[in-house]
This record gives sequence, structure tokens and C-alpha cells, in this order.
Amino acid sequence: MSSILNYAQQTLINMVVKMNNDFKFVLETDIDKDVLIKTLRSFEPWGHLVEFTNGVSTDQFKKRTPFNSHPLRKISRSRHLIDFASLRGKKMLDIGCNVGYNSMHCERQFGMNVTGIDFANKNIERANFFKKVSNSNCEFLIGNAEEFSRPNNYDLVVHFGTLYHLPNPIKSIQLCFDNLRSGGNLILETQIFEKPDVDPNLCYYMHGFNNDVTNFWAVSPTVLTRVMTFIGFIEAKEIQRVPHKNSIEGMFRAQFIAKKA
Ligand SMILES: C[S@@+](CC[C@H](N)C(=O)[O-])C[C@H]1O[C@@H](n2cnc3c(N)ncnc32)[C@H](O)[C@@H]1O
Repeated sequence: MSSILNYAQQTLINMVVKMNNDFKFVLETDIDKDVLIKTLRSFEPWGHLVEFTNGVSTDQFKKRTPFNSHPLRKISRSRHLIDFASLRGKKMLDIGCNVGYNSMHCERQFGMNVTGIDFANKNIERANFFKKVSNSNCEFLIGNAEEFSRPNNYDLVVHFGTLYHLPNPIKSIQLCFDNLRSGGNLILETQIFEKPDVDPNLCYYMHGFNNDVTNFWAVSPTVLTRVMTFIGFIEAKEIQRVPHKNSIEGMFRAQFIAKKA
């Protein structure tokens, strides 16, 4: 069976996933409740809902706006793009891993060996705390998406919600390609900008957009797939998109998939 599904199959599966999954991240732990509460408080404010099997949740602490109550939504949408069952024991790189929910989910659900990198120190501290309290073997490292280099090492690179934060997105896509083994896949989710009737090759420079100085570029899907192909990826394509809230006309969030031959 091909590991990459077509658009119609994907749409159908998305509907099923939506009906059957609340995309919540729940960590099994036997850590003392008071110690857990004290540590979670020291990491406030929280940007994502993380629930623990002892009833504690990040929801009960100071929160950031926006607060993501469904952190596994993106990975759940992509799990039918790739034959994850064939990746048991294989290596995954999670770029911009935040507090590690996608990494730990893929470790537990699919038996993958996962490295998560994020350039925010505090996120990696939180991820390593979650790793410790749930006996995970994920590797969480402070790392830059424009620099992290382990050539020919990974079977899957997941690059979610991070590309539009990078001043040098092409450098990061090149590193995804270099870090993948032959036959490995990239799943990329990012903000895109498209006005095909004007020009398919547009980019939107959005530094400071939504009062966020870490925002940089929303490129068109045509540009993104052309860059991937230029770098050497095969079968680079957009798989799905959703409208982007509080946004300007032509702005969407989209997932792409590409393979290293
Ligand atoms: C919008 S969040 C996405 C988190 C997660 N990947 C997801 O999609 O749910 C972007 C993440 O990328 C991280 N990040 C931003 N720039 C980065 C860079 N240059 N290198 C590594 N991580 C970066 C941020 O700290 C943040 O955790």
C-alpha cells in the first residue's frame, strides 16, 4: 500500500478523525499530585492543555491567549497521510516541538524514537519534565530549526506551526531534507498566503503580524512546493488546508507532504 494517501481519501478520513477524537493530550503519571501541581505552577503560563491521569491539568493554572485545548489536532490530521504503523522503531524529528505533545504521542502511539527540538529553553524544560514524569524516552533538545543537523538520520520529520516563524525558511527545509534518510517523509504545516488569480508565486511578509514579532513569512503553496522540489524532495504537495482565524484575505493554514527519494 502506498504510504501517501490521495486528497479524497484524506478528506474522508479527516471527517472520521474529527468525529472520533477530541485531540486531547493525556499523560499517564504516578508522580505525587502536590509535587506535580507545584511544578506546573512554576512553569506558568500554559499555552496548551495537558491532562494527567491523576486528574491534574494545565487548565487549572495561568494560561496564555490563545490557549490550545486540542494539541493533538494536527498530528491526528496527518496520521493518515503516512503509514505510521510501518514506522515502529523508526526515528522521528519534531521541529518546534513546544512542550513535546506530538513527540510523546508518536512515541506512545506508534512506537517511534523521537527527537524534539525547540529554540525556547522554557518549552524544552517543560518537555523534559513531562518526559520524566511519564517515563518517556523521547529526546528533547534546545535547537534551532535553521541549524539542527543530523544528516541522513530520520525516517520522518514533522515540522508543524514553525516555518512561518523563521526568517530563513528555505534553510530549514534544506535541513529537513538533509536530516531525512532516503525514503523518509516530511510533513509540514504552516501558514500560507495565496492569490492565484493575481500571481501563484506571492509571499506575504508578516513580521510583527498579530502583534507577534516572531512571525515572518507566509508563502504561497506554489512557492513552497517549488522550493521543496528544488531542494530535492519528490512528490511535494499540499494535502489539506483550513481557513486561518483573525486573518487577512488569502491566508490559510495548510499541511504539505514530501518524500526524500
Ligand atoms: C506555533 S508553535 C507550534 C508548536 C507545535 N509544533 C504545534 O504545531 O502544535 C511554534 C513553535 O516553534 C518554536 N520555534 C520558533 N522558532 C523556532 C526556531 N527557529 N527553531 C526551533 N523552534 C522554533 C516555538 O518556540 C514554538 O514552540
